Amino acid sequence: MFELNDRVAMITGAARGLGQAIAVKLAEAGADIALCDLDAAWLEETAGKVKALGRRVECYGVNVADGESVTVGVKAITKDFGKIDVLVNNAGITKDGLLMRMSEDDWDAVLDVNLKGVFLCTKAAMRGMMKQRSGTIVNIASVIGLMGNAGQANYAASKGGVISFSKTVAKELASRNVRCNAVAPGFIRTAMTDKLDEDVQNKMKELIPLSRFGEPEDVANVVLFLASDASAYVTGQVLSTCGGMVM
Ligand SMILES: NC(=O)c1ccc[n+]([C@@H]2O[C@H](COP(=O)([O-])OP(=O)(O)OC[C@H]3O[C@@H](n4cnc5c(N)ncnc54)[C@H](O)[C@@H]3O)[C@@H](O)[C@H]2O)c1
Repeated sequence: MFELNDRVAMITGAARGLGQAIAVKLAEAGADIALCDLDAAWLEETAGKVKALGRRVECYGVNVADGESVTVGVKAITKDFGKIDVLVNNAGITKDGLLMRMSEDDWDAVLDVNLKGVFLCTKAAMRGMMKQRSGTIVNIASVIGLMGNAGQANYAASKGGVISFSKTVAKELASRNVRCNAVAPGFIRTAMTDKLDEDVQNKMKELIPLSRFGEPEDVANVVLFLASDASAYVTGQVLSTCGGMVM
């Protein structure tokens, strides 16, 4: 049920972190992988890991915030692989600061990548999915999009937008057998969270019923479920992957 044999998956922001873990997980399940990030050269490490699993992999320099770049990227992927079955909108950035001091540039930059990027990639990839009458879109949101967070007004707004966008796409595309769901990760162990001092890490853990940070693989497992036929009757949902921090 959790297999993706003969499926093609496009993953944005795949050079490192969650995107890399998701690429490896979907490849392990049998998918061929189209990796996208700002610079194709940054994708070498992820590509090597996918290749080692015996799957086909290609790398594309795509800026998800730029409509022209997305159109060119999706066209190239469709030409190279023949189709896109799974789209994982994972690329995301933060530019934190209290609202009082948040610049318009920092607001725009985060909304452009995190929300407009999801709109552009979904719009470009869904045409083929609608034609083939199958496909699944998985958008990486965040628990911050559900609960808000001081110092992250731009990020919270972008991720809240991704959640309501996902529900709307689910409603619009359901009749074509295309599903769309969101994953809302909590604190996931990455280079970013590792840098926090021990006190802060311990305080964060107190908020998590499972008393640990998540691993990138915890998120990748949930993406695999939503990408595969195991979730054939699941659309328009938000699956929090946060150790119970948000219920
Ligand atoms: N790490 C966490 O704890 C956590 C928690 C909740 C949600 N998330 C979300 O998960 C996703 C991945 O997070 P991560 O921690 O792996 O981040 P990361 O910074 O390690 O990786 C993000 C990737 O996106 C790429 N990227 C940035 N802007 C881009 C653009 N315009 N076009 C294409 N690619 C672009 C970067 O180059 C990078 O490779 C993000 O959407 C993030 O908001 C992460």
